Amino acid sequence: MLRRKFLQIGSLGLSAFSFSSFVNLQEKRKPLVLSTWDAGIEANKAAWEVLKTGGRALDAVEKGVMVTEASQNCCVGLGANPDRDGFVTLDACIMDENFNCGSVAFLERIKHPISVARRVMEKTPHVMLVGNGAQQFALAEGFPLEKQELSEPAKKSYEKWLKKSEYNPVINIERSSSSVYQIPQKLDNGDWNHDTIGMIALDANGNLSGSCTTSGMAFKMRGRLGDSPIIGAGLYVDNEVGAAVATGQGEDVIRVAGAHTVIEFMRAGLTPEDACRKTIERILKIKGAKAKDIQVGMLAIAKNGTYGGYALQKGFNYAVCYADNKNNLLDSKFLIG
Ligand code: GLY
Repeated sequence: MLRRKFLQIGSLGLSAFSFSSFVNLQEKRKPLVLSTWDAGIEANKAAWEVLKTGGRALDAVEKGVMVTEASQNCCVGLGANPDRDGFVTLDACIMDENFNCGSVAFLERIKHPISVARRVMEKTPHVMLVGNGAQQFALAEGFPLEKQELSEPAKKSYEKWLKKSEYNPVINIERSSSSVYQIPQKLDNGDWNHDTIGMIALDANGNLSGSCTTSGMAFKMRGRLGDSPIIGAGLYVDNEVGAAVATGQGEDVIRVAGAHTVIEFMRAGLTPEDACRKTIERILKIKGAKAKDIQVGMLAIAKNGTYGGYALQKGFNYAVCYADNKNNLLDSKFLIG
């Protein structure tokens, strides 16, 4: 492939010096980690500790999102908002460079669903475990059973929700220009309201992996799953092409097999940003005028270390970390807003 590139560049009359600069440019974006929302800044730091010493992308994406899962100030992990019956139920999945993948869904009282998902991948012949079965497996693997209690911010927002108990579940969104949006823009503790952390990484050996973890929609129907534990919807990795991850309204990501669709657009030659945009455009086309009531954000890394993101609405941001660029929060482009 490099030879083909060389011949193409040669035919443009560029010098050997230009060619080596080209190779170096591509190399510079390795290792690289991207994650959704501003919580991604802290998560990327943990991932970077793995990547900077030549560690595996798979370890980086697990370690990274564990930081967010452990936080009591985010809509991910046991500190997050409960379902409408008052229980926190967690979904997560992970995928490596060899199409190995693992997932847990509707998991209760376990602090790190991403690590349980990895055990499903590594220690069972299955891809997905849900509910009591997932919890039983976690306990058998030595994960502690945490107390069944809500964090202080979650307790407050649940009590507020209970006053009306309207079943109008809306995915958490950072900032929306839509007047229809009813979810509070900030949590009671002042933090922004996010639904998911998705992380994708390219390691020094050129291998890709991804992870995705969430508590799902605030006050959702008991048993509801979104896109985040579903391989191909919330997350997909094809080590020959790239990695992609989604955040936002899970139902609408599932409808277009979001992360897998991004990968297929990249396989057809689109850049990561264009692949994300085309996928979001499909969602817009399906939703029509109702698109203003939801948010979806997608991130992607191509095998060559280029990366990008796109959102349906204004307000989606993501954290990017690689050696020269450190750890930056970028505002995504968007279709409406
Ligand atoms: N994207 C998270 C969810 O819909 O549950």
